[in-house]
Amino acid sequence: MVVVGGDGIGPEVTAEAVAVLQAAGFPLGFVEATAGWQAWLDGGVALPAATIDLVEAHRVCLFGAITSHPDGVTAGISQGREPWRSPILELRQRFGLDVSVRPARSFPGTPGRVGRRAPDGSSVEPAVDLVVVRQNTEGLYAGIEWTDPPAAVLEALREHPRWRFGDEGLAVGVRVVTRQATERVARAAFDLARRRGEAEVVVAEKPNVLRETSGLVVRIAAEVAGDHPGISLVSMNADAVLMEMVGRPERFGVILTTNLLGDLLSDAAAGIIGGPGYAPSANLGSDTAVFEPVHGSAPDIAGTGAANPIAAVLAAAMLAAHTGFDDTARAIETAVARAIAEGLPEGTAAIGRAIREAL
Ligand code: IPM
Ligand code: MN
Repeated sequence: MVVVGGDGIGPEVTAEAVAVLQAAGFPLGFVEATAGWQAWLDGGVALPAATIDLVEAHRVCLFGAITSHPDGVTAGISQGREPWRSPILELRQRFGLDVSVRPARSFPGTPGRVGRRAPDGSSVEPAVDLVVVRQNTEGLYAGIEWTDPPAAVLEALREHPRWRFGDEGLAVGVRVVTRQATERVARAAFDLARRRGEAEVVVAEKPNVLRETSGLVVRIAAEVAGDHPGISLVSMNADAVLMEMVGRPERFGVILTTNLLGDLLSDAAAGIIGGPGYAPSANLGSDTAVFEPVHGSAPDIAGTGAANPIAAVLAAAMLAAHTGFDDTARAIETAVARAIAEGLPEGTAAIGRAIREAL
């Protein structure tokens, strides 16, 4: 496997994740590669060709986190460098990692968990075990946007019956939904629901407003549901899913959704189970898979040793399961649960050690 630590706390948490994999007896070796803001500053390329080659050769990658800066920051220093583009987005597009699987599972005793006040005033910690299955390469993340769109685009827009905007001072983005990619992510969601023994898949979209794009997603999800007798499709508006998830997260199992909505829903789910430090994710293509914590590079705590490595460790467990080492994956998850239940120590290294000792 390839390990790309990236920026900020990325390398700190992937180092612990690799140490846990090794302690758990995971047999695959690893090779390190670079990507991210520092790579861009150093070599002018955010996702170096050598890293792409390694991912292509190994097909399995553990990814840390990347620091992204807005155009305003990159503009002044971009000379002699490729235009900045987030390497994780680049990896998803280049390797067709079009399905993102984002579990949010609560471990009893997790500090910072969102609880719920029961009618008698006591506090309940709902047992959360949900998975957001996010389309990972299309939707509003397709990257098709213009500030002041070119004339041909404006012309097409002007012909649209609902176009009622001027030509000046515009930014326009395109939400792309293809049948092929949507079918793939819907099948992934239903397959996962079957493996988990779920009775339903919730498709979280906005077909009431986004009639064409969300409408197509819901229609395709319904077709795929037709191939899965015993699992029903429940179509809910994404805003309602979010509200219900905050109040009653245990109600959800598998949630199928598009790219931007999946980004929001998976962060919300992470917040509920204790924060981004507990949420792993898998980016899955037909022949390549990249595993990463849902969190970012947290530059504010980078280098302080305070980062929680659990999301990266759980991402490593997903990697183990994906490569056929299910027992290793289960052992790591059990060790994480045990370490949390015993009370986590402070700091990246100490938490990593506690998990290894719990193995
Ligand atoms: C995630 C992240 C990425 C996303 C960023 C870093 C591009 O937030 O993996 O959820 O928006 O997909
Ligand atoms: Mn995100």
